[in-house]
Amino acid sequence: MIYNAMENTPIDFKTVNKKITDSGLEDLGSASIRELVKLVNEIEKSTGEKYIRMEMGVPGLMPPEIGVNAEIEALRKGVGAIYPMIEGIPELKFEMARFVKNFLNIDVNEDGCIPSVGSMQGAFAAYLVAARRDANKDTVLFIDPGFPVQKQQLKVLGYKYKTFDVYDYRGEALREKLESYVSKGNISSIIYSNPNNPSWICFTEKELKIIAETADKYDVIVIEDLAYFAMDFRKDYSKPGLAPYQPTVANYTNNWMMLVSSSKVFSYAGQRIGSMVISDSLYNKKFPDLKRFFKTDGFGYSIIYGALYSLSSGVCHSAQFGFAAMLKAANDGEYDFVENVKEYGRRARTMKKLFTDNGFKIVYDKDEGNPIADGFYFTFSYPGMTGGELLKELLYYGISAITLSITGSERTEGLRACVSQTGADRYADLESRLKCFNKKFKQG
Ligand SMILES: Cc1ncc(COP(=O)(O)O)c(C=O)c1O
Repeated sequence: MIYNAMENTPIDFKTVNKKITDSGLEDLGSASIRELVKLVNEIEKSTGEKYIRMEMGVPGLMPPEIGVNAEIEALRKGVGAIYPMIEGIPELKFEMARFVKNFLNIDVNEDGCIPSVGSMQGAFAAYLVAARRDANKDTVLFIDPGFPVQKQQLKVLGYKYKTFDVYDYRGEALREKLESYVSKGNISSIIYSNPNNPSWICFTEKELKIIAETADKYDVIVIEDLAYFAMDFRKDYSKPGLAPYQPTVANYTNNWMMLVSSSKVFSYAGQRIGSMVISDSLYNKKFPDLKRFFKTDGFGYSIIYGALYSLSSGVCHSAQFGFAAMLKAANDGEYDFVENVKEYGRRARTMKKLFTDNGFKIVYDKDEGNPIADGFYFTFSYPGMTGGELLKELLYYGISAITLSITGSERTEGLRACVSQTGADRYADLESRLKCFNKKFKQG
């Protein structure tokens, strides 16, 4: 059914219409995050109205002083003039290996802790090597829903990928589903985020074990994207060296690499720094087929001196010092990086309630029978509307989000909301806009 918002909408109907037309986006439901950001910026500029901006995962908190000060100090010492080592500064490698031990309880050599220009570049470099290590394994498998731009990276590289929506394959059902892809023999690597962007589901230990066992059975590398490290606030993962630890596939296989981002959990997105972490066994493994592209057959060596060298010749020198200082403070128990971002959980709890009180449904709502956590994202739908229709209608009500269909989800009725830009001062606006929306579209 096509809905037509009429004149009486919280944001001027004609202006929103004109801006949508001017944007040239024929199907809003398939618009990318950055395209929607541009469109909403345009509408805000023309109307002077502030949207409830839920389309982009921007950290809404200030970066920690510890990182900022360490960067300033490093810059004053002149690091800005010096090329950083591609494998990373020793301080960062040391603290990252400690961080992995302290918060995941996994032992890893510093060699395998390699800074990247955000997890974005980490994923790109991972594909460049993981998807080329065996001529027969030329396809990446996404456990979706996922972060849309990671597929764009593969498209840019001209690599093949497969994807499935995990919604109907939680728990033991995941094994057969994974096998149906991986047993074909062409899958080089499996990638997923945990907690998951966009759905905020978190894999259980049982599911991580299934992923690990499948990877070992078919020699597949697991790329575990920890962009939201320790942000499942149902458990307290904040104490260095103490259980519980952030769950990881690394407890069950050696065939792993992780992407650790500073963007969300350290509110450091602007500095574009993260770290790849590669298991000792994978780092040292030799794959003869890598010689088709790189000087050696060593996996770790190819990542550093093949992929990362070609991409950016290392990561911004001062940002490495900033990240290292934050990791050190977390490792020493002097900075509770989790406490700082719990605000997102509080926002999600309130915002989800405002949505469900006004006729909306949460789409991904369970982890194997348990209610999902409140965190950086949540997913929602409105009865009788497709995701594309809902996205468009909400624009007239001053609310922006993205559709789940651009994330590889089969729940085409759903949208993803990011809570980061909506502080408590906007709850009243959100509530009145949702009420107005529900009043208009409520059926029966
Ligand atoms: C799942 C996932 N991976 C990676 C990233 C990118 O992280 P970074 O800012 O470190 O490049 C994001 C950012 O939103 C994300 O959601």
